[in-house]
Amino acid sequence: MKAAVLHEVNQPLVIEDVSVPNPGPREVLIRTRVAGLCHSDLHFMEGLYPHPLPAVLGHESAGVVEKVGSDVTYVKPGDHVVTCLSVFCGTCDNCTTGRTVLCTDTTVKMLPGASNRLSWARSEKLNQFLNLSSFAEQMLVHENAIVKIRNDMPLELAALIGCGVITGYGAVVNTAKVTAGETVAVIGCGGVGMAAINGAAIAGAGRIIAIDTNPAKLQLATKLGATDIVDPRNGDVVQQVRELTKGGVNHSFEVLGRKETAEQSFAMLAAGGTATIVGMIPFGQKIELHGFDFLRERRIQGSSMGSNHFRVDMPRLVEFYMRGKLHLEDWISAKLKLSEINEGFANMKAGKTVRSVIMFDA
Ligand code: APR
Ligand code: ZN
Ligand code: ZN
Repeated sequence: MKAAVLHEVNQPLVIEDVSVPNPGPREVLIRTRVAGLCHSDLHFMEGLYPHPLPAVLGHESAGVVEKVGSDVTYVKPGDHVVTCLSVFCGTCDNCTTGRTVLCTDTTVKMLPGASNRLSWARSEKLNQFLNLSSFAEQMLVHENAIVKIRNDMPLELAALIGCGVITGYGAVVNTAKVTAGETVAVIGCGGVGMAAINGAAIAGAGRIIAIDTNPAKLQLATKLGATDIVDPRNGDVVQQVRELTKGGVNHSFEVLGRKETAEQSFAMLAAGGTATIVGMIPFGQKIELHGFDFLRERRIQGSSMGSNHFRVDMPRLVEFYMRGKLHLEDWISAKLKLSEINEGFANMKAGKTVRSVIMFDA
């Protein structure tokens, strides 16, 4: 089968012939139908986060079950599934207390470089990425890395739920637990930020302020539920938000992964407000906060994959889509073939797209 391989950082992905073994007892072989291009893939391609190479990237996908291992009862061939990198064991302390996203069992949630699910004609080891590797025609994954979805859900929209949507929506609903009427600001309205905005609208937030340097993104944000827009090019972002809200927001979300915007997210809080950092700030980068701001019970916290319980959350998101509350069609800017993947990332870098997806049956 074909897969897009990252050989070295800052080099284009190369389409290679790759194979996967038969599923082990708790593994599932999936025919990949759609894989989204997420900014996190780009962070690894640019070397801002380390990963053993060569590797097959990709972690936002949907497909159809092809084969299951001897102990798998959750799915059968033909089932439609969404993948999630938040693979969980179900028995460690974090899983047992409901925080499956922080699973510590490294035999299930394997560390980078540990799995042996991919092979090729070369002697060099080919690494699986985040226990998934979606930029490939087939994926071999642990059964706890997938969720079944209804067969009438379009797979290209379902794929988006697998990372971008659950990350943004979950940051608002699961991590920050935004309640009806609260004010929200979202910094960075890419695929993940749009999901945070749509999630805030579903949660019943009062004012939802979208912040982005791209006017087209701000326009789309308004369609998804933003009540106000702020363009950083019109002046100091913190000051603009403070003026709009007369003193700051209850919740801010940094969905970009930069020092400057992380600091802004904390500085724009009202007394008692909480900043949630969703973006992946480059490894080693420190951020600076004004210590005085803690006196008024402001908080700052991280959110990993939207603190998801994806087996519960993702089918709910599918239902939200079916009921017209989650505007997934608006996320897709381009449908690409696997061979066009590098153009897709170039467009992401240029800020042109919300989400590009690879269609494997195209
Ligand atoms: N202020 C506000 N928005 C900005 C700024 C800025 N200074 N600079 C760029 N942006 C906007 C871009 O215009 C774009 O709309 O931030 C958005 C980033 O979107 P994407 O590149 O599509 O990123 P996305 O896939 O949404 O991921 C965002 O979340 O999960 C993490 O790793 C992911 O760190 C990444 C972040
Ligand atoms: Zn992602
Ligand atoms: Zn666990």
